[in-house]
Amino acid sequence: MTADSDRLSQARQLIGNGRTEVPTPALILDLPRVQQNLQEMARRMAPLPAGLRPHAKIHKSPVLGRMQLDAGAIGLTTATVWEAAAMADAGLDDLLIANQVVGPVKAAELARIAGLATVTAAVDSAANLAELSAAASRAGTEVGVIVEVDVGLHRSGVRTAAEAVTLGHQASNAPGLRLRGLLGYEGHCMLEPDRALRVEKAHAANAILVGAADDFAAAGLCTDIVAGGGLGTWDITGANPRITELHAGSYIFSDAFHHNLVPGFEPALTVLATIISRSGATAVLDCGRKSIGIDRTPPEVTGGAGTIRFEHNEYFIHEEHTVLDLPAGSALAVGDRVELMPGYSPTTVNFYDCYFVARDGIIVDVWPVCARYGSATVGTGPAPA
Ligand SMILES: Cc1ncc(COP(=O)(O)O)c(C=O)c1O
Repeated sequence: MTADSDRLSQARQLIGNGRTEVPTPALILDLPRVQQNLQEMARRMAPLPAGLRPHAKIHKSPVLGRMQLDAGAIGLTTATVWEAAAMADAGLDDLLIANQVVGPVKAAELARIAGLATVTAAVDSAANLAELSAAASRAGTEVGVIVEVDVGLHRSGVRTAAEAVTLGHQASNAPGLRLRGLLGYEGHCMLEPDRALRVEKAHAANAILVGAADDFAAAGLCTDIVAGGGLGTWDITGANPRITELHAGSYIFSDAFHHNLVPGFEPALTVLATIISRSGATAVLDCGRKSIGIDRTPPEVTGGAGTIRFEHNEYFIHEEHTVLDLPAGSALAVGDRVELMPGYSPTTVNFYDCYFVARDGIIVDVWPVCARYGSATVGTGPAPA
Protein backbone atom coordinates (compact mmCIF):
# COMPACT_ATOMS: atom_id res chain seq x y z
CA MET A 1 0.00 0.00 0.00
CA THR A 2 1.37 3.45 -0.89
CA ALA A 3 1.62 6.18 1.72
CA ASP A 4 -1.16 8.03 -0.12
CA SER A 5 -3.64 5.15 -0.15
CA ASP A 6 -2.74 4.42 3.48
CA ARG A 7 -3.67 7.99 4.45
CA LEU A 8 -6.88 7.69 2.46
CA SER A 9 -7.95 4.46 4.10
CA GLN A 10 -7.31 6.04 7.51
CA ALA A 11 -9.45 8.99 6.48
CA ARG A 12 -12.20 6.67 5.29
CA GLN A 13 -12.48 5.26 8.80
CA LEU A 14 -13.86 8.66 9.82
CA ILE A 15 -16.91 8.31 7.55
CA GLY A 16 -20.00 8.54 9.76
CA ASN A 17 -18.46 11.10 12.14
CA GLY A 18 -19.91 14.59 12.48
CA ARG A 19 -18.45 17.15 10.04
CA THR A 20 -16.75 18.98 12.92
CA GLU A 21 -15.28 15.83 14.48
CA VAL A 22 -12.45 14.98 12.06
CA PRO A 23 -8.84 15.86 12.95
CA THR A 24 -7.92 19.38 11.90
CA PRO A 25 -7.04 21.16 9.74
CA ALA A 26 -9.31 19.29 7.33
CA LEU A 27 -10.86 20.04 3.97
CA ILE A 28 -14.66 19.81 4.14
CA LEU A 29 -16.75 19.59 0.97
CA ASP A 30 -20.44 20.32 1.42
CA LEU A 31 -22.06 17.91 -1.05
CA PRO A 32 -25.56 19.47 -1.35
CA ARG A 33 -23.96 22.87 -1.99
CA VAL A 34 -21.68 21.46 -4.69
CA GLN A 35 -24.70 19.81 -6.31
CA GLN A 36 -26.56 23.11 -6.16
CA ASN A 37 -23.62 24.94 -7.79
CA LEU A 38 -23.41 22.38 -10.60
CA GLN A 39 -27.13 22.83 -11.32
CA GLU A 40 -26.90 26.62 -11.09
CA MET A 41 -24.02 26.77 -13.60
CA ALA A 42 -25.81 24.36 -15.97
CA ARG A 43 -28.91 26.59 -15.74
CA ARG A 44 -26.89 29.74 -16.50
CA MET A 45 -24.98 28.18 -19.39
CA ALA A 46 -28.01 26.55 -21.07
CA PRO A 47 -29.07 29.61 -23.15
CA LEU A 48 -25.49 30.60 -24.07
CA PRO A 49 -23.77 29.54 -27.30
CA ALA A 50 -20.58 28.29 -25.62
CA GLY A 51 -20.31 24.86 -24.07
CA LEU A 52 -18.90 24.55 -20.55
CA ARG A 53 -15.59 22.76 -20.10
CA PRO A 54 -15.02 23.34 -16.37
CA HIS A 55 -11.49 23.85 -15.10
CA ALA A 56 -10.66 20.85 -12.93
CA LYS A 57 -7.56 22.49 -11.40
CA ILE A 58 -10.01 23.96 -8.89
CA HIS A 59 -10.76 20.54 -7.39
CA LYS A 60 -8.27 17.94 -8.75
CA SER A 61 -10.93 15.28 -8.23
CA PRO A 62 -12.13 12.72 -10.79
CA VAL A 63 -15.30 12.29 -8.69
CA LEU A 64 -16.14 15.98 -9.08
CA GLY A 65 -15.07 15.86 -12.74
CA ARG A 66 -17.56 13.05 -13.32
CA MET A 67 -20.28 15.07 -11.60
CA GLN A 68 -19.52 18.04 -13.89
CA LEU A 69 -19.77 15.85 -17.00
CA ASP A 70 -23.04 14.39 -15.71
CA ALA A 71 -24.30 17.96 -15.25
CA GLY A 72 -23.75 18.67 -18.95
CA ALA A 73 -20.11 19.73 -19.29
CA ILE A 74 -18.65 18.99 -22.75
CA GLY A 75 -15.33 17.85 -21.26
CA LEU A 76 -12.85 19.01 -18.63
CA THR A 77 -10.03 21.53 -18.61
CA THR A 78 -6.88 20.89 -16.59
CA ALA A 79 -3.80 22.96 -15.79
CA THR A 80 -1.30 20.08 -15.81
CA VAL A 81 -0.78 16.84 -17.64
CA TRP A 82 -0.88 15.11 -14.25
CA GLU A 83 -4.40 16.38 -13.57
CA ALA A 84 -5.43 15.20 -17.04
CA ALA A 85 -3.83 11.81 -16.31
CA ALA A 86 -5.78 11.48 -13.05
CA MET A 87 -8.99 12.14 -14.98
CA ALA A 88 -8.10 9.83 -17.89
CA ASP A 89 -7.02 7.02 -15.55
CA ALA A 90 -10.41 7.33 -13.83
CA GLY A 91 -12.14 6.84 -17.19
CA LEU A 92 -13.10 10.47 -17.91
CA ASP A 93 -12.93 11.64 -21.51
CA ASP A 94 -12.35 14.79 -23.56
CA LEU A 95 -9.65 16.52 -21.56
CA LEU A 96 -8.03 19.80 -22.50
CA ILE A 97 -4.81 20.97 -20.87
CA ALA A 98 -4.94 24.76 -21.03
CA ASN A 99 -1.16 25.04 -20.68
CA GLN A 100 1.95 24.01 -22.54
CA VAL A 101 3.18 20.48 -21.76
CA VAL A 102 6.96 20.77 -22.01
CA GLY A 103 9.72 18.25 -21.25
CA PRO A 104 10.20 14.58 -22.13
CA VAL A 105 8.48 13.03 -19.09
CA LYS A 106 5.39 15.22 -19.39
CA ALA A 107 5.24 14.80 -23.17
CA ALA A 108 5.40 11.01 -22.77
CA GLU A 109 2.62 11.12 -20.17
CA LEU A 110 0.50 13.24 -22.51
CA ALA A 111 1.05 10.75 -25.32
CA ARG A 112 0.19 7.85 -22.97
CA ILE A 113 -3.13 9.28 -21.84
CA ALA A 114 -4.02 10.13 -25.44
CA GLY A 115 -4.43 6.35 -25.72
CA LEU A 116 -7.07 6.44 -22.98
CA ALA A 117 -9.06 9.56 -23.83
CA THR A 118 -9.35 12.42 -26.29
CA VAL A 119 -6.68 14.78 -25.00
CA THR A 120 -5.74 18.25 -26.24
CA ALA A 121 -2.90 20.50 -25.10
CA ALA A 122 -2.17 24.17 -25.69
CA VAL A 123 0.94 25.00 -27.72
CA ASP A 124 2.66 28.28 -28.49
CA SER A 125 6.02 27.26 -29.96
CA ALA A 126 7.36 25.16 -32.81
CA ALA A 127 9.84 23.49 -30.43
CA ASN A 128 7.05 22.23 -28.19
CA LEU A 129 5.03 21.07 -31.22
CA ALA A 130 7.98 19.00 -32.39
CA GLU A 131 8.40 17.51 -28.90
CA LEU A 132 4.72 16.52 -28.66
CA SER A 133 4.72 15.18 -32.21
CA ALA A 134 7.72 12.94 -31.46
CA ALA A 135 6.18 11.71 -28.18
CA ALA A 136 2.85 10.89 -29.85
CA SER A 137 4.59 9.11 -32.72
CA ARG A 138 6.64 7.04 -30.26
CA ALA A 139 3.51 6.09 -28.29
CA GLY A 140 1.45 5.47 -31.41
CA THR A 141 -1.30 7.81 -30.21
CA GLU A 142 -2.86 11.04 -31.49
CA VAL A 143 -2.53 14.16 -29.33
CA GLY A 144 -4.86 17.09 -29.97
CA VAL A 145 -3.36 20.58 -29.94
CA ILE A 146 -4.79 24.07 -29.82
CA VAL A 147 -2.74 27.16 -30.49
CA GLU A 148 -2.70 29.52 -27.52
CA VAL A 149 -3.00 33.21 -28.39
CA ASP A 150 -2.09 35.98 -25.95
CA VAL A 151 -5.28 38.03 -25.62
CA GLY A 152 -3.81 40.58 -23.20
CA LEU A 153 -2.75 38.57 -20.14
CA HIS A 154 0.83 38.57 -21.46
CA ARG A 155 1.52 35.11 -20.03
CA SER A 156 1.82 32.27 -22.55
CA GLY A 157 0.49 32.39 -26.08
CA VAL A 158 1.71 33.60 -29.46
CA ARG A 159 1.63 37.37 -29.70
CA THR A 160 0.05 37.77 -33.16
CA ALA A 161 -2.60 36.08 -35.30
CA ALA A 162 0.02 35.62 -38.02
CA GLU A 163 2.18 33.56 -35.63
CA ALA A 164 -0.92 31.55 -34.69
CA VAL A 165 -1.57 30.73 -38.35
CA THR A 166 2.08 29.70 -38.90
CA LEU A 167 1.95 27.41 -35.86
CA GLY A 168 -1.46 26.11 -36.95
CA HIS A 169 -0.01 25.02 -40.30
CA GLN A 170 2.93 23.35 -38.54
CA ALA A 171 0.53 21.52 -36.20
CA SER A 172 -1.61 20.36 -39.11
CA ASN A 173 1.42 18.81 -40.77
CA ALA A 174 3.00 17.25 -37.66
CA PRO A 175 2.75 13.45 -37.35
CA GLY A 176 0.85 12.26 -34.28
CA LEU A 177 -0.88 15.62 -33.71
CA ARG A 178 -4.36 16.84 -34.56
CA LEU A 179 -5.00 20.57 -34.69
CA ARG A 180 -8.33 21.39 -33.02
CA GLY A 181 -8.40 25.19 -32.79
CA LEU A 182 -7.41 28.07 -30.53
CA LEU A 183 -7.24 29.11 -26.88
CA GLY A 184 -7.20 32.69 -25.60
CA TYR A 185 -7.49 33.03 -21.81
CA GLU A 186 -8.42 36.54 -20.66
CA GLY A 187 -7.04 36.12 -17.14
CA HIS A 188 -6.27 39.84 -16.88
CA CYS A 189 -10.02 40.58 -16.97
CA MET A 190 -11.06 37.99 -14.39
CA LEU A 191 -10.06 39.98 -11.32
CA GLU A 192 -11.57 43.30 -12.42
CA PRO A 193 -14.15 44.15 -9.74
CA ASP A 194 -15.75 46.95 -11.80
CA ARG A 195 -18.29 45.07 -13.91
CA ALA A 196 -18.43 47.64 -16.73
CA LEU A 197 -14.65 47.65 -17.04
CA ARG A 198 -14.55 43.85 -16.91
CA VAL A 199 -17.03 43.68 -19.81
CA GLU A 200 -15.02 46.20 -21.83
CA LYS A 201 -11.70 44.42 -21.25
CA ALA A 202 -13.18 40.98 -21.92
CA HIS A 203 -14.76 42.14 -25.18
CA ALA A 204 -11.36 43.45 -26.30
CA ALA A 205 -9.69 40.15 -25.34
CA ASN A 206 -12.39 38.07 -27.03
CA ALA A 207 -11.98 40.19 -30.20
CA ILE A 208 -8.30 39.21 -30.39
CA LEU A 209 -9.22 35.52 -30.09
CA VAL A 210 -12.03 35.75 -32.64
CA GLY A 211 -9.72 37.67 -35.01
CA ALA A 212 -7.20 34.82 -34.82
CA ALA A 213 -10.03 32.33 -35.43
CA ASP A 214 -11.04 34.28 -38.56
CA ASP A 215 -7.47 34.09 -39.85
CA PHE A 216 -7.36 30.38 -38.99
CA ALA A 217 -10.57 29.76 -40.93
CA ALA A 218 -9.35 31.83 -43.90
CA ALA A 219 -6.19 29.71 -43.96
CA GLY A 220 -8.24 26.51 -43.96
CA LEU A 221 -7.18 25.59 -40.41
CA CYS A 222 -9.43 23.84 -37.90
CA THR A 223 -11.52 26.08 -35.61
CA ASP A 224 -13.60 23.38 -33.91
CA ILE A 225 -12.41 24.72 -30.55
CA VAL A 226 -12.27 28.47 -29.87
CA ALA A 227 -11.83 28.55 -26.11
CA GLY A 228 -11.41 31.01 -23.28
CA GLY A 229 -13.01 32.38 -20.17
CA GLY A 230 -13.30 31.84 -16.47
CA LEU A 231 -15.94 32.46 -13.86
CA GLY A 232 -15.45 36.24 -13.89
CA THR A 233 -16.29 36.41 -17.61
CA TRP A 234 -18.76 33.51 -17.84
CA ASP A 235 -21.58 35.63 -19.26
CA ILE A 236 -19.31 37.72 -21.51
CA THR A 237 -17.02 35.17 -23.12
CA GLY A 238 -19.73 32.49 -22.84
CA ALA A 239 -22.18 34.74 -24.74
CA ASN A 240 -19.82 35.38 -27.67
CA PRO A 241 -21.29 33.41 -30.59
CA ARG A 242 -17.82 32.77 -32.03
CA ILE A 243 -16.43 31.20 -28.85
CA THR A 244 -17.21 27.52 -28.63
CA GLU A 245 -16.31 26.78 -25.03
CA LEU A 246 -15.89 28.41 -21.63
CA HIS A 247 -13.30 27.25 -19.08
CA ALA A 248 -14.89 28.54 -15.85
CA GLY A 249 -14.30 26.34 -12.81
CA SER A 250 -14.50 28.30 -9.57
CA TYR A 251 -18.31 28.16 -9.48
CA ILE A 252 -18.05 24.66 -8.00
CA PHE A 253 -16.78 25.90 -4.60
CA SER A 254 -17.34 29.67 -4.77
CA ASP A 255 -14.47 30.65 -2.46
CA ALA A 256 -14.32 34.02 -0.69
CA PHE A 257 -12.83 35.75 -3.74
CA HIS A 258 -15.28 34.37 -6.31
CA HIS A 259 -18.29 34.58 -3.98
CA ASN A 260 -18.03 38.35 -4.06
CA LEU A 261 -17.07 38.53 -7.74
CA VAL A 262 -19.90 36.37 -9.15
CA PRO A 263 -22.75 35.98 -6.65
CA GLY A 264 -25.35 33.23 -6.75
CA PHE A 265 -23.17 30.21 -5.99
CA GLU A 266 -22.95 28.60 -2.55
CA PRO A 267 -19.66 28.49 -0.61
CA ALA A 268 -19.15 24.73 -0.65
CA LEU A 269 -15.56 24.28 0.55
CA THR A 270 -14.29 25.04 4.03
CA VAL A 271 -11.25 24.33 6.12
CA LEU A 272 -12.19 22.97 9.53
CA ALA A 273 -9.90 24.23 12.30
CA THR A 274 -9.59 23.86 16.08
CA ILE A 275 -9.12 26.62 18.64
CA ILE A 276 -5.77 25.80 20.25
CA SER A 277 -5.50 28.87 22.49
CA ARG A 278 -7.77 31.61 23.79
CA SER A 279 -7.01 34.68 25.82
CA GLY A 280 -9.71 37.31 26.20
CA ALA A 281 -11.18 38.12 22.81
CA THR A 282 -8.24 36.48 21.00
CA ALA A 283 -8.48 32.92 19.70
CA VAL A 284 -5.77 31.00 17.85
CA LEU A 285 -6.58 28.32 15.24
CA ASP A 286 -4.47 25.35 14.15
CA CYS A 287 -4.56 26.33 10.49
CA GLY A 288 -2.41 28.77 8.57
CA ARG A 289 -0.50 29.36 5.38
CA LYS A 290 0.35 25.65 5.11
CA SER A 291 -3.31 24.60 5.15
CA ILE A 292 -5.42 27.36 3.65
CA GLY A 293 -4.99 29.42 0.49
CA ILE A 294 -4.68 33.12 1.16
CA ASP A 295 -4.14 34.39 -2.40
CA ARG A 296 -6.28 37.24 -3.65
CA THR A 297 -8.59 37.41 -0.60
CA PRO A 298 -8.11 36.33 3.03
CA PRO A 299 -10.17 33.39 4.28
CA GLU A 300 -13.45 34.19 6.05
CA VAL A 301 -14.65 32.55 9.27
CA THR A 302 -18.15 31.18 8.69
CA GLY A 303 -21.18 31.94 10.84
CA GLY A 304 -19.73 35.10 12.39
CA ALA A 305 -17.65 33.06 14.86
CA GLY A 306 -14.80 35.58 14.58
CA THR A 307 -12.75 37.66 12.19
CA ILE A 308 -9.15 37.17 11.18
CA ARG A 309 -7.07 39.86 12.89
CA PHE A 310 -5.62 42.52 10.60
CA GLU A 311 -2.65 44.35 12.09
CA HIS A 312 0.64 45.85 10.89
CA ASN A 313 -0.91 45.97 7.43
CA GLU A 314 -1.43 42.23 7.08
CA TYR A 315 -3.68 39.40 8.15
CA PHE A 316 -2.41 37.53 11.21
CA ILE A 317 -1.97 34.18 9.48
CA HIS A 318 1.29 32.31 10.17
CA GLU A 319 2.29 28.88 8.90
CA GLU A 320 0.34 26.91 11.51
CA HIS A 321 -1.61 29.65 13.30
CA THR A 322 -4.46 31.98 12.44
CA VAL A 323 -5.39 34.62 15.01
CA LEU A 324 -9.05 35.58 15.39
CA ASP A 325 -10.81 38.47 17.07
CA LEU A 326 -13.87 37.00 18.75
CA PRO A 327 -17.15 38.89 19.06
CA ALA A 328 -18.20 40.11 22.53
CA GLY A 329 -19.59 37.30 24.66
CA SER A 330 -18.17 34.51 22.45
CA ALA A 331 -18.30 31.18 24.28
CA LEU A 332 -15.71 29.54 22.03
CA ALA A 333 -13.11 27.64 24.05
CA VAL A 334 -9.94 25.65 23.47
CA GLY A 335 -10.87 22.50 21.54
CA ASP A 336 -13.89 24.03 19.81
CA ARG A 337 -14.10 23.93 16.04
CA VAL A 338 -14.64 26.68 13.49
CA GLU A 339 -14.80 26.61 9.70
CA LEU A 340 -13.15 29.01 7.27
CA MET A 341 -14.09 29.70 3.68
CA PRO A 342 -10.76 29.82 1.78
CA GLY A 343 -9.80 33.03 0.01
CA TYR A 344 -8.85 30.93 -3.01
CA SER A 345 -9.85 27.28 -3.45
CA PRO A 346 -7.26 25.84 -5.88
CA THR A 347 -4.27 26.58 -3.66
CA THR A 348 -6.19 25.37 -0.59
CA VAL A 349 -7.13 22.04 -2.17
CA ASN A 350 -3.52 21.37 -3.18
CA PHE A 351 -2.52 21.18 0.53
CA TYR A 352 -4.72 18.14 1.22
CA ASP A 353 -4.75 14.40 0.53
CA CYS A 354 -8.53 14.23 0.55
CA TYR A 355 -11.90 15.89 0.88
CA PHE A 356 -14.14 14.96 3.78
CA VAL A 357 -17.49 14.97 2.02
CA ALA A 358 -20.30 16.21 4.28
CA ARG A 359 -24.05 16.03 4.04
CA ASP A 360 -26.43 17.16 6.80
CA GLY A 361 -23.54 17.59 9.23
CA ILE A 362 -22.16 14.06 8.73
CA ILE A 363 -19.07 12.88 6.83
CA VAL A 364 -20.54 10.62 4.16
CA ASP A 365 -17.49 9.97 1.99
CA VAL A 366 -13.79 10.67 1.45
CA TRP A 367 -12.51 11.60 -2.00
CA PRO A 368 -8.82 11.84 -2.95
CA VAL A 369 -7.25 15.05 -4.17
CA CYS A 370 -5.21 13.85 -7.17
CA ALA A 371 -2.15 15.15 -8.97
CA ARG A 372 -0.83 17.24 -6.08
CA TYR A 373 2.73 18.43 -6.34
CA GLY A 374 5.06 16.35 -4.22
CA SER A 375 2.53 13.52 -4.04
CA ALA A 376 4.00 10.05 -4.44
CA THR A 377 1.30 9.33 -7.00
CA VAL A 378 1.44 12.50 -9.00
CA GLY A 379 -0.56 11.39 -11.96
CA THR A 380 -2.69 8.58 -10.70
CA GLY A 381 -4.56 9.13 -7.50
CA PRO A 382 -6.49 6.16 -6.14
CA ALA A 383 -9.59 5.32 -8.15
CA PRO A 384 -12.59 7.34 -7.04
CA ALA A 385 -15.15 5.64 -4.84
C1 LIG B 1 -6.06 28.97 -18.27
C2 LIG B 1 -7.21 29.18 -17.33
N1 LIG B 1 -8.46 29.02 -17.80
C3 LIG B 1 -9.53 29.22 -17.03
C4 LIG B 1 -9.39 29.60 -15.68
C5 LIG B 1 -10.65 29.89 -14.99
O1 LIG B 1 -10.89 29.57 -13.74
P1 LIG B 1 -11.91 30.36 -12.79
O2 LIG B 1 -13.22 29.67 -12.90
O3 LIG B 1 -11.26 30.21 -11.47
O4 LIG B 1 -12.02 31.79 -13.20
C6 LIG B 1 -8.10 29.76 -15.14
C7 LIG B 1 -7.90 30.17 -13.74
O5 LIG B 1 -6.87 30.59 -13.28
C8 LIG B 1 -6.98 29.54 -15.99
O6 LIG B 1 -5.71 29.70 -15.56
